[in-house]
Amino acid sequence: MQLAERVQALTPSTTLAITAKAKALKAEGHDVIGLGAGEPDFNTPAYILDAAKRAMDEGMTKYTPAGGIPELKNSITAKLKRDQDLTYTNEQIIVTTGAKHALFTLFQVLLNEGDEVIVPAPYWVSYPEQIKLAEGKPVIVSAEEANNFKLTAEQLRAAITPKTKAVIINSPSNPTGMMYSEEELKALGEVCLEHDVLIVSDEIYEKLIYTKEDHVSIAQLSDELYHQTIIINGVSKSHSMTGWRIGFAAGNKTVVKAMSNMASHSTSNPTTIAQYAALAAYTASEDEVTKMKEAFKERLDLLHKRLINIPGIECAKPSGAFYLFPNVKKAVERGGFEDVDAWVKALLDEEKVALVPGSGFGSPDNVRLSYATSLDQLEKAADRIENFVNKYQS
Ligand SMILES: Cc1ncc(COP(=O)(O)O)c(C=O)c1O
Repeated sequence: MQLAERVQALTPSTTLAITAKAKALKAEGHDVIGLGAGEPDFNTPAYILDAAKRAMDEGMTKYTPAGGIPELKNSITAKLKRDQDLTYTNEQIIVTTGAKHALFTLFQVLLNEGDEVIVPAPYWVSYPEQIKLAEGKPVIVSAEEANNFKLTAEQLRAAITPKTKAVIINSPSNPTGMMYSEEELKALGEVCLEHDVLIVSDEIYEKLIYTKEDHVSIAQLSDELYHQTIIINGVSKSHSMTGWRIGFAAGNKTVVKAMSNMASHSTSNPTTIAQYAALAAYTASEDEVTKMKEAFKERLDLLHKRLINIPGIECAKPSGAFYLFPNVKKAVERGGFEDVDAWVKALLDEEKVALVPGSGFGSPDNVRLSYATSLDQLEKAADRIENFVNKYQS
């Protein structure tokens, strides 16, 4: 069977490959510590589970409008007002089957063949693939590690061509955990306005910030930037609801209407029960969200402190999300490994710790560690990584 060219051009997910290998080792009875996961390890808070059960009991099990129920859209506009002081109407909101599908649908309605989207590297693995699936061209621009992996206004300006349609800004970032400051966003925003480049602002890690800085959406910074930006967000990471598949996009109503049309012919509505669960998430107090954040902060502090004391591993402290993205080049070279991928493979084989190599995120000298696991497991993982690095010190 000959598959379509668009599928053949897809890059297999490195995250999934390492997770599969870790699972196979576990099945053989090995004590594997997985630091590859891209999801919180907490259960979804009880009040959200209760809302879903109630929705089922009340018969909320039928189709809804493709773009989501009005009550949930209302709660999203209220959330955007409360958190970002941004004003949207329901026509500017689409509820989607996870933030991933909001991005997928956005690129589908936005891009013609050859249209360029600037993707700062390191990047979340799905951005380039989704752009390619929409026949667009991902233009990867490597952000400097010395600048905490953040794209500068100069780099952005230099990457813009007459074919540039959009740029992706993901703050806090997966995989680096780094966050743009208001000044940095302002500078990037000015370039986008100068060249009429749409800003896709992926704010999925908004609630997981461990510094005193507040999350700032680039759409907040001026009226022009509000009109130039599509915000992407959802409940997966903030409320530990990855499996419920609820995300949203907020922005220009013509774009949102086109996205709803696309959704009506692809997913139809996101799962009705999950929409009611998300409604509870966005309307209740955020105490549970804060508790999860505090647990993540404790884990970040522990793992970061341990890692920076391992020779050959360098890691600036991230501000948010639940990832560390250390540079392990020196440890890899001193250990005599061919590259970081080989180092990661040996770490899994010999010490049974699963990390994700940075090559999949467009940053081949780094690895991504997720700290969405218990403090005990993190401590144990750090011991094993230290052991592994020491074993290969020449
Ligand atoms: C940066 C980023 N954007 C979007 C998503 C998608 O989230 P969702 O589960 O809502 O589809 C993820 C999930 O890993 C992510 O890391």
